[in-house]
Amino acid sequence: MRRYQILSIAGLLILTGCSQSGSGNAGSQTYAPAQPTLVAQVTTTAADYVAPTPAPQPEVLPPLAVGHTVYVKLALIDRTVEIAPGIKYRAWTFNGGVPGPVIRARVGDTIDVTLTNKAIMGHSIDFHAALAPPNIAYQTVKPGQTLHFAWVAQYPGAFLYHCGTPPVLAHISNGMYGAIIIDPPTGWGATAREFVFVQSEFYPSPYPGTKDEYYGDLQKMKIGIPQIVTFNGVAFRYKTEPLPIKVGELVRVFVVDAGPSHFSAFHVIGTLLRTAYVDANPQNKLVGLQTIAVPPGGGAMVEFQVEQAGTYPFVTHSFGDADDGAMGAFIAAD
Ligand code: CU
Ligand code: CU
Repeated sequence: MRRYQILSIAGLLILTGCSQSGSGNAGSQTYAPAQPTLVAQVTTTAADYVAPTPAPQPEVLPPLAVGHTVYVKLALIDRTVEIAPGIKYRAWTFNGGVPGPVIRARVGDTIDVTLTNKAIMGHSIDFHAALAPPNIAYQTVKPGQTLHFAWVAQYPGAFLYHCGTPPVLAHISNGMYGAIIIDPPTGWGATAREFVFVQSEFYPSPYPGTKDEYYGDLQKMKIGIPQIVTFNGVAFRYKTEPLPIKVGELVRVFVVDAGPSHFSAFHVIGTLLRTAYVDANPQNKLVGLQTIAVPPGGGAMVEFQVEQAGTYPFVTHSFGDADDGAMGAFIAAD
């Protein structure tokens, strides 16, 4: 039997030959230093581990870290969360919340990741924002183990991160996803009121032996007709509690679609998307959009401003999904 000692290195994996020259690796938009050789370490979970508390306001874009290393500590935790009023769902989570925390960095920053598995099965993390060998960086971490690796952000954008352990369909559907926002080197432009929305679907079935608890039903996931679709993990979250904005101010929304299977057709009723950026990369600029398509595993950034006080609902214009909970509202005041 294989045994692990506290903090001893049980596995040290090194990949050579992946360093890149400082130019040309990102087409016409190389911003960042070369990607260093990626090393991943698996250790046992530290004894002083404390379970984190999920952020109460998942739509808030956190501030940039001081310095150029962003320390991302994520715990893999089984936790029951409420995905709609009265619907308790036995989720698999990053840090106890669905979605997981919004991570923010800027191009050139090192993302230093520590993944601690406190759950009952193996999980992993796949960063769409990273250039990293998946078999090393995204390897499955067993219960009781910790994985450590680091990568350098090279592209700006709004990216998905998610558990990549098979069946990925189940791991995403059960709550293992979040957004990572990588700022361009010179920032996002004009000052704006900023929000982050992660759209996702749920496929619940009653959990045997309970009154009001549900689990993710793999057969339903495969059929792909969800019962609940959300922005930031709770059906109608921002219909129940609309988000305040101001007339005339620029509003900037980062949208990430976690899926696992449905596109978001992100649309704000009563205005146009003045500018929109596919994957939130400033080079992917679109203007005057009515709706932007965000595929599962994709992102976008949109900007708009309203000219009159009022209520401006936002939806996925796939109205079956909006009716299942993927809608909310901005309330604009003078
Ligand atoms: Cu997982
Ligand atoms: Cu992915």
